[in-house]
Amino acid sequence: MPASAPSDRVIIFDTTLRDGEQCPGASMTYEEKIEVAELLESMGVDVIEAGFPIASQGDFESVHEIAKRSEKAVIAGLARAISGDIARAGEAVRVAKRPRIHTFVSTSPIHLAHQMRKTEEQVLEIISATVAQARNLVEDVEWSAMDATRTPIEYLCRCVEAAIKAGATTINLPDTVGYAVPEEYAAMFRAVRERVPGADKVIFSTHCHNDLGLAVANSLAGLAGGARQIECTLNGIGERAGNAALEEIVMAIKTRADVLPYGTGVDSTMLTRASKMVSAVTSFPVQYNKAIVGRNAFAHESGIHQDGMLKNNTTYEIMTPESVGVTKTSLVMGKHSGRHAFREKLKDLGYELGENALEDVFNRFKNLADRKKNVYDEDIEALVDQEIASAHD
Ligand code: KIV
Ligand code: ZN
Repeated sequence: MPASAPSDRVIIFDTTLRDGEQCPGASMTYEEKIEVAELLESMGVDVIEAGFPIASQGDFESVHEIAKRSEKAVIAGLARAISGDIARAGEAVRVAKRPRIHTFVSTSPIHLAHQMRKTEEQVLEIISATVAQARNLVEDVEWSAMDATRTPIEYLCRCVEAAIKAGATTINLPDTVGYAVPEEYAAMFRAVRERVPGADKVIFSTHCHNDLGLAVANSLAGLAGGARQIECTLNGIGERAGNAALEEIVMAIKTRADVLPYGTGVDSTMLTRASKMVSAVTSFPVQYNKAIVGRNAFAHESGIHQDGMLKNNTTYEIMTPESVGVTKTSLVMGKHSGRHAFREKLKDLGYELGENALEDVFNRFKNLADRKKNVYDEDIEALVDQEIASAHD
């Protein structure tokens, strides 16, 4: 059975408030979760996984409040394949304009043997019963095959078939342990979409962890295999090495439309603000060289790069800082900076020096940069002041 071509619109499913919050040290207060959810919605995120309602009374209350306040976004609550979890998730999200229950069960032999202690047939029965229960509570049900990437394809297809028959509308095939490589992740989606009856009636979703640093690459490969929902988190926070980073997914799709012919509904100019908010509320710093939102993502220090940037910014930037909500490229002054960038920096600071004075200050600056790790604007101002003072001596 050939799989029909899905649309080009990619659904962005943010799980910062669930999988993101699950990582050690990233817990957020009730108020902080509501603030993050409001920002996610205003950015154009399609689905917000607001939490795991059975986990605690606090989680239930924040999911319920986020659901109540939501306008356009689908609000999802997570539930294990347990009747009580599903009922609680249903109760939490029911007040949303667009509620979703997201239920999951492990499908890999490792998890069946060691974690669940169930047979394949027992798990199939659990899938049918729990998805049907969720579908009785809400129209929109997502089912996830936990550890899908370590599940034999024949059994994975039987599980997906059972979930679709019981009423699942989205099928998520997570790389729970961050084990997959892009080609095999894409092939898994292709195989499932080709083999399972009814696969053309549901949306397939990626959910990738970053244990091998491949979460974003795998998510994009999932699109090539026919997935049209990507599960991700701001700043890539999440269990262990984290989840696929939302900002990287959105900007890869936007920047490489030539080879990634998809679209998202996310307003990319809000990415920096959202990243800063999540970092502040979780107290998780963003690494300096983090793609898209790290403080060095639009900073240039090498002389050759700074010279190129001053001539034309496409020489060393593949996207504009403004497109992610940063006001300006920054030319960082250091030992690798050249005269051209130094002169521009002086202009920015309000100085116009003659050629001799410029040469003098530039040499002193190079000397200083050799000794000092960071050269700040104040250091450069001091050098200019010294030059002006010595000219008056
Ligand atoms: O990584 C995972 O498999 C999950 C599921 C609950 C979707 O987070
Ligand atoms: Zn996960």
